[in-house]
Amino acid sequence: MTQKNCYILGIESSCDDTAAAVINNGEILSNVVATQAIHEQYGGVVPELASRAHQQNIVPVVHQALQKANIDKNQLSAIAFTRGPGLMGSLLVGTSFSKSLALGLGIPLIDVNHMQAHILAHFIKAEGQNAPNFPFLAMTISGGHTQIVKVTDYFEMEIIGQTIDDAVGEAFDKSAKILGLPYPGGPLVDKYAQQGNPKAFKFPKPKVGPMDFSFSGLKTSVLYFVEKEVAQNPDFISENIEDICASLQFTIVDYLMDKLKNAVKKTGIKEIAIGGGVSANSGIRNALKEAETKYGWKTHIPKFEFCTDNAAMIAIVGELKYKTQNFAENNVVASARMKF
Ligand code: KG4
Ligand code: ZN
Repeated sequence: MTQKNCYILGIESSCDDTAAAVINNGEILSNVVATQAIHEQYGGVVPELASRAHQQNIVPVVHQALQKANIDKNQLSAIAFTRGPGLMGSLLVGTSFSKSLALGLGIPLIDVNHMQAHILAHFIKAEGQNAPNFPFLAMTISGGHTQIVKVTDYFEMEIIGQTIDDAVGEAFDKSAKILGLPYPGGPLVDKYAQQGNPKAFKFPKPKVGPMDFSFSGLKTSVLYFVEKEVAQNPDFISENIEDICASLQFTIVDYLMDKLKNAVKKTGIKEIAIGGGVSANSGIRNALKEAETKYGWKTHIPKFEFCTDNAAMIAIVGELKYKTQNFAENNVVASARMKF
């Protein structure tokens, strides 16, 4: 089969987004995501509710992805699915569905590592998106993960730094919760931050290994700071929300940039690609753009729809693996703690 008529369906269900996408020759023909609103009222993802919502969403989401791509399921060449890491109950829905569909259609099944997919999303052909050159450094920042990875080839990746506790998205979301903002608070912190003074308040940057991260202390310091101020002025939060968010965002972005600078120094690699939901943050986007002129880095920021959890990134990995006939066995199982 030539690349031209190779159509791969990607399916993602590792956390709280049920997603399906179709790829053909590096181009995304459809990219459908059903985001589960049910978790908002709980201030975080409830695993049992997530698996149930995946079960409800998966058939219509896949149907819509095929429809938008304007192809029939019988034209599919293979099915790529997220095997892990993620929430077990969520992963099971996508895994079982993909296995059954591939078996029913008599086509190969391709297992995908969600973390590799966030990185390989940079190889999707899209306007304004240039694929990075090997070797490059990938920083994956989201609600579930925070890692710096040295990428030598498509499937040759080495984690050189990671969080020892919370993920950076959790630092945004948990701090936002303390400020009374709804879940997920990251985008709101970003919105308020753009109106505030980043130097108004000072938060500590946790000390760990040069390329590792720690965020649980930051959340605690935000809590103590807010409690102390509110005790003196009950309206402290509403009167200072912009400055608090700007200062918090400044601290987090500066911390991420410190770690990247250390990784560049250690590896000598100046080409940087970011991924994960926090890549949408205006602070990190500006800091990376600035680093191009300031430090001579070449930076890659994916289109927003390929940053957050999506199935297009699963489909591109499927296509890359399809080229080398790297297929999964039919008895493949989901893996909550899947490593590279
Ligand atoms: O990749 P993603 O959709 O899901 C996973 O966690 O895997 O990332 C979601 C995370 C949430 O923590 C959300 O608050 C954060 O990304 N996020 C942001 C922004 N947009 C999304 N954090 C800071 N600023 C943003 N603009
Ligand atoms: Zn993710």
